[in-house]
Amino acid sequence: MDIFTGTTVGTSWRRAVISVDQFSRGDINEIFDLADRLANGRTTPLGGKIIANVFYEPSTRTSSSFFSAMTRLGGSVIPINEVNYSSVTKGESLEDTIRTLENYCDLVVLRHFENDATERAMEVSKIPIINAGNGSGEHPTQALLDLYTIKKEHGGVDDLTISLMGDLKFGRTVHSLTKLLRMYDCRLQFVAPNQLAMPAEYIWPADKIYQDLNEVIDSSDVLYVTRVQKERMQGSEDFDFSYAVTTHHMKKAKNDMVLMHPLPRVGEIATELDSDPRAAYFRQMKYGLHVRMALLYAMIGNV
Ligand code: CP
Repeated sequence: MDIFTGTTVGTSWRRAVISVDQFSRGDINEIFDLADRLANGRTTPLGGKIIANVFYEPSTRTSSSFFSAMTRLGGSVIPINEVNYSSVTKGESLEDTIRTLENYCDLVVLRHFENDATERAMEVSKIPIINAGNGSGEHPTQALLDLYTIKKEHGGVDDLTISLMGDLKFGRTVHSLTKLLRMYDCRLQFVAPNQLAMPAEYIWPADKIYQDLNEVIDSSDVLYVTRVQKERMQGSEDFDFSYAVTTHHMKKAKNDMVLMHPLPRVGEIATELDSDPRAAYFRQMKYGLHVRMALLYAMIGNV
């Protein structure tokens, strides 16, 4: 059991994608090769297969991209994008919801506000589960697509200086991505106010910690920005931290720096940067479609 995520690391990712801890570099290469091939092809290998999108929290990108990925591969989707319109509102448990859906589909994509939700689902499910975000825990498919984006934009990950900035405490995408990046020979820099600092368990001695973007902007090969996860906070914390990336910062950045954001953004990246070729956050979403196609194909394509 992983003490930070509460996940069973030994579980095959083909059975359930719970945490990035389940992936080796070989697995990642296999998924990315598959993503490359599926992105260029027009095949429908999942014809006749069905997945269920079960989202207990809001989503645009993750739910839509899994829907699109499954449809492009020839399969179908049961969309429960807002559980308030399902029997969850009558008090049905997560476990019973999963036991129900396994009769109707071949895989469940699950987003939930509790960190142990994917593992609870996996324990009762006879069909594969994909963690589409579990509380402040992980977002493993986002981390895979983030890594794929870095590889596509920079040609590799080794030797890069990667700065992660924003809400590093509650942001599950940065937790998963940090763990994945440990498999590569890159330098990590964390930029956040004290109240939103990266939890200690994710920090290694060689990492550099900052509170001001100006200290890292000129040394970064990748700048990965996240929003403040207000929905995960107990009260109305105030943050003396204005970290919007502006043209002022981009003038000091490397010509080939890659600016990423899992989105949605709420002011962290000025919209005038959208036309800057270094702004990769819209391309990042397209890469995500291809990675999710690869995951679906790898998990239910051959069974
Ligand atoms: N990046 C991401 O998870 O976006 P959604 O919340 O819109 O799915």
